[in-house]
Amino acid sequence: MYSILVVDDEQDLRKQILTILTSRGYQVDEAFDGQDAAEKLEKKAYPLVLCDVRMPRMDGLQLLQHIQAREYSSTIALITAHGNIREAIEAIREGAFDYVEKPINEQVLIDLVQRAERAYHMIYNMAYSAPVLNPGSPTEAIGKSRSMKSIFKMVEKLGRVNTSVLIRGENGTGKELVAKAIHYNSPRKNGPFVAVNCAAITETLIESELFGHEKGAFTGADQRHIGKFQFAAGGTLFLDEIGETSPALQVKLLRVLQDHCFTPVGSNREVKADVRIIAATNRDLEAAIKDGSFREDLFYRLNVMPIFLPSLRDRQEDIAPLIHHFIDKFNLRHTKTIESISPEALNALEHFHWPGNIRELENAIEHAFIVETTNQITFFSLPEYIRKNSRRKTSISRAEHRLPSYEMMDWEKRKEDFEKEFIVQALKRFQGRINITAEQANMPKNTLLRKIKKYNIKPTDYGAKELSFE
Ligand SMILES: Nc1ncnc2c1ncn2[C@@H]1O[C@H](COP(=O)(O)OP(=O)(O)OP(=O)(O)O)[C@@H](O)[C@H]1O
Ligand SMILES: [Mg+2]
Repeated sequence: MYSILVVDDEQDLRKQILTILTSRGYQVDEAFDGQDAAEKLEKKAYPLVLCDVRMPRMDGLQLLQHIQAREYSSTIALITAHGNIREAIEAIREGAFDYVEKPINEQVLIDLVQRAERAYHMIYNMAYSAPVLNPGSPTEAIGKSRSMKSIFKMVEKLGRVNTSVLIRGENGTGKELVAKAIHYNSPRKNGPFVAVNCAAITETLIESELFGHEKGAFTGADQRHIGKFQFAAGGTLFLDEIGETSPALQVKLLRVLQDHCFTPVGSNREVKADVRIIAATNRDLEAAIKDGSFREDLFYRLNVMPIFLPSLRDRQEDIAPLIHHFIDKFNLRHTKTIESISPEALNALEHFHWPGNIRELENAIEHAFIVETTNQITFFSLPEYIRKNSRRKTSISRAEHRLPSYEMMDWEKRKEDFEKEFIVQALKRFQGRINITAEQANMPKNTLLRKIKKYNIKPTDYGAKELSFE
């Protein structure tokens, strides 16, 4: 949704613009001066801010600086009184998009808004659209980094051949996703994709899990059992955590890879294996070969086509597109609408070290979805350990602490503004419940109650049925 914030101290003019824009299907909010607009921008992202130049408290140029200092993604266009063109030009030099003159001409206004909207979509698409492998399918993979793009190409190539593949990478880098993508891009796509986690099955059971067993093959084997190699016939067998297999099993796997056949436990009949094998590991197999825990011959058999999935911290440019991918995904799952992510939150996520890679990023976004009360993921909705441990770019932090403009340089007043806003946000987040809010905001309950009274805040406005001490 392309939402617009109209900022003007003249109510009639605001109403006129509002009528024109809403009749064209835009979602429009109003602010009565720059200061009011700044508060609204903190709670919601507006792709376009249409703002008057001369206003009390914070004027149009100050609002422009405010928006730029915070790196909000809003475009600003000015509404100028006839004869004040010089100010408008100055503002354009400072980064404003364009201006319209008062009195407002409907066609000129619409034309400006449409141009701004087109520019916004262009920038937005450039920033966030990334190559997608198998769009719309369960194996949809996102990546615009060079390394991911070359992996996508590789996946498509590997789909056309039948060799075994070894996928390597840290936890959560997408090894299983890539294995599935290879399968679904191959002629075997209508056959089964069977995944076995070699680390999760005990050594005594794994052989029969993989190759099956005959009735009476061992104590407790009272029925014939079909193994995964048979299940996967005509399809792909994904051997996850291959580095955790025992030397005995490694010998048997090597045989399947070489001869394309195997013998179920307790049988003397050989069975043909019509499977493609994709293996994955996060272990350093070269070191495992050196210390004797992994067979070198098996390694060479598997490693015909190696794929290395880079860790997320090494492909920072994939973080924003992945976040947007997960926002779309969770919007469907949670029937909630998050439209964007604030620059502060994005910055924190881009500068985190992601030991759990994409899976961890996905969890962080889901956390924010649950906690966030606005339509934008903000810094404060991120998991605490990420907020504390992200090495954020300092330019934004510096901008955040830049001194407010001259009229607002009143310590007591600004402190009160902050306190009030903090408490309102905290109450919103915890549905007006006093005990939880006090605890989560790390604030003594009495202090919270005192401030609520002082600022005349009503917890019932934020979801509490009555003053609730939950
Ligand atoms: N490029 C990508 N685009 C979109 N989603 C991705 C991408 N890579 C991984 N994911 C998602 O991240 C999560 C983790 O991926 P996956 O399970 O494939 O990782 P893994 O390497 O097998 O992890 P582990 O080593 O912990 O088993 C999944 O939900 C997957 O869909
Ligand atoms: Mg996995």
